[in-house]
Amino acid sequence: MTNKPLLSWIFLISICWILLGVEIDVVSGQCLSDQQTLLIQLKSNLNFNANKSKKLVTWSQNTNCRAWEGVTFDRDGRVTGLSLSEESISGGIDNSSLFSLLYLRSLDLSYNHFGTPIPSKFGYLTSLNYLNLSNAGFVGQIPIAISRLTSLVTLDISFSWTGLVDASLLKLENPGLRMLVQNLSKLETLYLDGVNISAHGSEWCQDLSSSLPSLRELSLSNCYLSGPLDQSLENLKSLSVIHLDGNTLSATVPGFFANFSNLTSLALFYCGLHGNFPKEIFQEPYALSGSLLVLDLHSNQLQGKIPVLPPVCSYIDFSSNNFTSPIPADIGNNLIFTIFFSVSNNYLTGVIPESICNATYLQVLDWSNNSLSGKIPECVPAMSQTLGVLNIRRNNFTGLIPDAFPVDCALETLDLNGNSIEGQIPNSLSHCTRLEVLDLGNNMVTGNFPCLLKNISTLRVLVLRANNFHGRIGCCDTTGTWEKLQIIDLAHNKFSGNLNLLGNCLKRWKAMKVDNADKLKHLSFEFLKFSPSRYYPDAVTVTFKGLEMKLQKILTIFTSIDLSCNHFVGPIPEEVGLLRALYVLNLSSNALTGEIPLSIGKLSQLESLDLSRNKLNGSIPESLAGLTFLSFLNISYNHLVGPIPCGSQIQTFSPDSFAGNNALCGFPLGVICAGEVSMPNTTKGNDSDSDSDTRNGIDIDWNLIPSEIGFIVGFGVVVLPLVFCKRWRISYFHRVDDVAFWIFPLAVTRKWLLSWTTTR
Ligand SMILES: *[C@@H]1O[C@H](CO)[C@@H](O)[C@H](O)[C@H]1NC(C)=O
Ligand SMILES: *[C@@H]1O[C@H](CO)[C@@H](O)[C@H](O)[C@H]1NC(C)=O
Ligand SMILES: *[C@@H]1O[C@H](CO)[C@@H](O)[C@H](O)[C@H]1NC(C)=O
Ligand SMILES: *[C@@H]1O[C@H](CO)[C@@H](O)[C@H](O)[C@H]1NC(C)=O
Ligand SMILES: *[C@@H]1O[C@H](CO)[C@@H](O)[C@H](O)[C@H]1NC(C)=O
Ligand SMILES: *[C@@H]1O[C@H](CO)[C@@H](O)[C@H](O)[C@H]1NC(C)=O
Ligand SMILES: *[C@@H]1O[C@H](CO)[C@@H](O)[C@H](O)[C@H]1NC(C)=O
Ligand SMILES: *[C@@H]1O[C@H](CO)[C@@H](O)[C@H](O)[C@H]1NC(C)=O
Ligand SMILES: *[C@@H]1O[C@H](CO)[C@@H](O)[C@H](O)[C@H]1NC(C)=O
Ligand SMILES: *[C@@H]1O[C@H](CO)[C@@H](O)[C@H](O)[C@H]1NC(C)=O
Ligand SMILES: *[C@@H]1O[C@H](CO)[C@@H](O)[C@H](O)[C@H]1NC(C)=O
Ligand SMILES: *[C@@H]1O[C@H](CO)[C@@H](O)[C@H](O)[C@H]1NC(C)=O
Repeated sequence: MTNKPLLSWIFLISICWILLGVEIDVVSGQCLSDQQTLLIQLKSNLNFNANKSKKLVTWSQNTNCRAWEGVTFDRDGRVTGLSLSEESISGGIDNSSLFSLLYLRSLDLSYNHFGTPIPSKFGYLTSLNYLNLSNAGFVGQIPIAISRLTSLVTLDISFSWTGLVDASLLKLENPGLRMLVQNLSKLETLYLDGVNISAHGSEWCQDLSSSLPSLRELSLSNCYLSGPLDQSLENLKSLSVIHLDGNTLSATVPGFFANFSNLTSLALFYCGLHGNFPKEIFQEPYALSGSLLVLDLHSNQLQGKIPVLPPVCSYIDFSSNNFTSPIPADIGNNLIFTIFFSVSNNYLTGVIPESICNATYLQVLDWSNNSLSGKIPECVPAMSQTLGVLNIRRNNFTGLIPDAFPVDCALETLDLNGNSIEGQIPNSLSHCTRLEVLDLGNNMVTGNFPCLLKNISTLRVLVLRANNFHGRIGCCDTTGTWEKLQIIDLAHNKFSGNLNLLGNCLKRWKAMKVDNADKLKHLSFEFLKFSPSRYYPDAVTVTFKGLEMKLQKILTIFTSIDLSCNHFVGPIPEEVGLLRALYVLNLSSNALTGEIPLSIGKLSQLESLDLSRNKLNGSIPESLAGLTFLSFLNISYNHLVGPIPCGSQIQTFSPDSFAGNNALCGFPLGVICAGEVSMPNTTKGNDSDSDSDTRNGIDIDWNLIPSEIGFIVGFGVVVLPLVFCKRWRISYFHRVDDVAFWIFPLAVTRKWLLSWTTTR
């Protein structure tokens, strides 16, 4: 039983070979001329982006259709299969010759942008046994015509891109689910994710169980279904995949799941499940105790002890529930084949049991945000021969970080933030040459700037915030040090020395210098590297615009330097101007002297700048006015003098941003700059309006007003929409998944926006 996963993979691989063999055979058939004509007509009526098409572009009248991509034929040369996935097709296909290809058995139009209702003419294609319209952009009611496709074995009309809008694009209202599936008795795979079905448990469970005896894969995520799960579902004995996440089932997990003897994947996250997880589910004699590979129950209110699982599970997610009590001491022995294990955001207590180190296939281990305590077992770092993510953030762990990272350490993310860990960064951590995210924030770690990690060229996020680090920033003298570094947070430590030393580092940190919007993605750890891959998104908390924010997903373009609340002295290095891709710069609460460097005006991406509570002198450089994306500025409590640059959006910040300086003047401070009072006295005598101003005791600097108005109007029309768009893109990325990259080519949009700003 224990080697079952291995066997299933061998089995799957053999199936793939068989399928490939069949494919080659089929392709060798001839292509009939009438079929070629229909395909040419089909192509000419389709609206698609030829730049993105990989298949349709190969359909040329001059070549035999046998050579065309995406088409398969039977031995007689009739088209039996059409795969036009991701061809950037848009617009309607109501009158398409597609519906004359009556021998079609397999049709894949997934990942396009049709934007119309599903045409009823699909009902003509009665030979279809595979129909895939997932994420094809169809909208509205699913037509009754689909119910006539009685040969269907696979039907996929899912829409997986949810989260941006709380609404369904497709619905099953009239006909409803019962009518749709009534005669599809051969159906083995049914994916309707994201379709608004809006049905009660007794309804939809019976609709399925009475019509689809052969159903193996059922995926109805985010279908507005309600619960509880009806006992009739139990009749679907062959089910191996049940995905019902994102429906408000509001129920306990029914015990009859134990009787799905072939169940391999169960996703019930965000389902409002509560109560204890039924013990019998994973107990003998039920076969479920031996077949389940993926179990995803996160974001419910399940309570009690975390269930003891069958040892075959490869993916287990119990995060964000109400599980309590200590973790069973022998848990590791039930995770022998587990690759992903998360119990984050629960109320677990006690220590990490040593047995966890028996789980030698683990790639992601996440215990974050519980009430676990004690020391990190010595053997845990040693697991990072396989382990890619170790996250024990927000617990009560104490003691040292064990100096036991192996020579071939594969760790990519180490997050120990928010514990009471002491001692120094262990030397052996330098073995982890794939490390991307190191977060030791909010502990009691001591030591110098971690130069011992300088050869880890993959490092992107370094958070040492709120510890007892001290000494100078250094070791930026060699080339290539931390080229990929995009977030560095050293705030609230005792670092000291001249900040000029940072200059060398700034030259090396390439990711902050080069705008790499083209390579826009978020940091994540890919595991289960066979299809379908899954990703563990790295998250980090940054202080941004004066607020602490959790970035659920770290975009590769998000860049931030936070050195606030240390003992740095000396001037801000001129090299800061190199950081053209920097979003956040926080140097506040140090003892910095000298002037704000002019070069700061070159940080064209900067959104948040905090230089407050230092000893900076001189005037605010005019170049600061060029920072069009700046939406947070704090230069208060310094020794700055002179006018606030006039006619720039710098003046749209509140007076607090400028408070506590020696002699700043101009709007928005209520201090008039010397030398700018000349104009009012020239107009005062013959301008009646000015009387009302003096009557109210308000001194208005007329010199400023016209440009101010002009600026605000200009800002509103030109800059605000851009700022808004940019902001929208960022927050939007924190919410939605990779699918979004496909829906909107955002990197392109961004480039366009940027070129637009520079050309106007
Ligand atoms: C396709 O690419 C060409 C050349 O790069 C460009 O001129 C054209 O606008 C693009 N067409 C579309 C629909 O994007
Ligand atoms: C399909 O053809 C009919 C009749 O020729 C026409 O009225 C209708 O507008 C066409 N539909 C589309 C979407 O082109
Ligand atoms: C439908 O097509 C998409 C994209 O190719 C694929 O990911 C999905 O697995 C297919 N659905 C089924 C049920 O085969
Ligand atoms: C789903 O359908 C129901 C009934 O047709 C409707 O009341 C509800 O507003 C729809 N919900 C969404 C999000 O489209
Ligand atoms: C299903 O088939 C039966 C018998 O052929 C027929 O009477 C019924 O209308 C069909 N249902 C649907 C929804 O097409
Ligand atoms: C479970 O799968 C096996 C092997 O594919 C099959 O023989 C058996 O009939 C399935 N069980 C059920 C209840 O469908
Ligand atoms: C499983 O099915 C058997 C036979 O139908 C039934 O007696 C048993 O109660 C079921 N088990 C659960 C946990 O529902
Ligand atoms: C889960 O825990 C939270 C916080 O302790 C509590 O408010 C909630 O009522 C609990 N839910 C259930 C179903 O026990
Ligand atoms: C920690 O977990 C609790 C319980 O699930 C949750 O309410 C809370 O929001 C989590 N905190 C963070 C910072 O994720
Ligand atoms: C699991 O770990 C425990 C404690 O480390 C050890 O005693 C036991 O032998 C291990 N079991 C297996 C199956 O390796
Ligand atoms: C950590 O331990 C302290 C003292 O034992 C306790 O007050 C605190 O609530 C614990 N914190 C967490 C996150 O469990
Ligand atoms: C305006 O004020 C300046 C300086 O106070 C003075 O030199 C100048 O003569 C005044 N002009 C008029 C027209 O009163």
